[in-house]
Amino acid sequence: MDYSRYISSRAQSLKPSGIRKFFDVAASMPNCISLGVGEPNFVTPDYAREAAIASIQRGETKYTSNSGLIELREAIKKYLSQRFNLEYDVSQIIITVGVSEAIDNTLRALINFGDEVLIPEPCFVSYAPCVTLAGGAPISIPCTKDNGFILTKEQIKSRITDKTKLVFVPFPSNPTGGIMTKEQLEDIAEVIIENDLLVLSDEVYAELTYGENKHYSIANVKGMQERTVYLNGFSKAFAMTGWRIGFAAAPVEIIQQILKIHQYAIMCAPTAGQYAALACLEEGFKDNFATVEMMKAEYDRKRKFLYKSLLDMGLECFEPLGAFYMFPSVESTGMNGEEFATAFLKSHEVAVVPGGAFGNSGVNHIRISYAYSMEKLEKAMDRMREFLKKR
Ligand SMILES: Cc1ncc(COP(=O)(O)O)c(C=O)c1O
Repeated sequence: MDYSRYISSRAQSLKPSGIRKFFDVAASMPNCISLGVGEPNFVTPDYAREAAIASIQRGETKYTSNSGLIELREAIKKYLSQRFNLEYDVSQIIITVGVSEAIDNTLRALINFGDEVLIPEPCFVSYAPCVTLAGGAPISIPCTKDNGFILTKEQIKSRITDKTKLVFVPFPSNPTGGIMTKEQLEDIAEVIIENDLLVLSDEVYAELTYGENKHYSIANVKGMQERTVYLNGFSKAFAMTGWRIGFAAAPVEIIQQILKIHQYAIMCAPTAGQYAALACLEEGFKDNFATVEMMKAEYDRKRKFLYKSLLDMGLECFEPLGAFYMFPSVESTGMNGEEFATAFLKSHEVAVVPGGAFGNSGVNHIRISYAYSMEKLEKAMDRMREFLKKR
């Protein structure tokens, strides 16, 4: 049977994620060290696991309200205010199945056929496909190491047409580790407001910034909260990738549209996961988020180790200031990211992601996640040193 005539042209136009392809190969190699997947090497904190188990034992195994547990939304309201100086009403917050669902729903709620969406690249793999699935046109803005992989006013301006509706502001960035300061965000906000655009701000790594670099949200810039859909979640900072809990906060008129889609497509986020997330926040309010701070200190230690190791090997590397990824250029080796990652995997059994998986502007890079044990990172760096010596 020829299925291609049944499959929608939009689905057919999507390429499979360049991350997974590599890791399927890596999974078949028993000695392989994989530094590819972007998830914490910590287990979800005890108190969160216990809260989820307790909720199941109490028999709370049914749907929650579509927008999510009211206690969790109240806690998120307090969390956003305490940690990021953001003031939202609970009516503006909904709980989603990770930030992933929130990205998809936001685009489906806002995008009409042909609307253009500006996406700074390299970026998280789902942005452009979700824009395409919503019927929009993804317009990439290549960001480079020279300006710290950030978005600038000029870049945005040069791509605005009468069809532009929305700009992705995804910082701290996966895969580059770039962050944007208050001043830089104020600068781009000017052009966003001038041109009456909306922002989808993916802040899933907001807790993970290093050194003096505290995260600042674009929703905090004057005039921006009313045109921003703010997304965050529990996967990264709270080591909860498998629980699938994220949230969206936006003006009521927008969040109600997102909620309708969430209602019909998903119903509600997993109930036990919502209780686990609630426990993370309640514990955090008591101890000033000591667990998050502990995990962040560990990532920072690994970040410093990896950054130094890569520079010592002669690879050009931007110092990541947030998230948990390194994004070195491999141009000096004469290979592009795909060639480097393939050869390195075959000869030394270490899996990293070719930078092209995050957009064309990443083709000469590789992405290494440092959310792994120090032992694994040390071994992987030894193998990379050997690999580069032999070339
Ligand atoms: C930038 C970015 N946004 C969103 C996600 C998805 O997060 P979640 O697990 O909350 O769906 C990821 C996961 O890697 C990410 O890196």
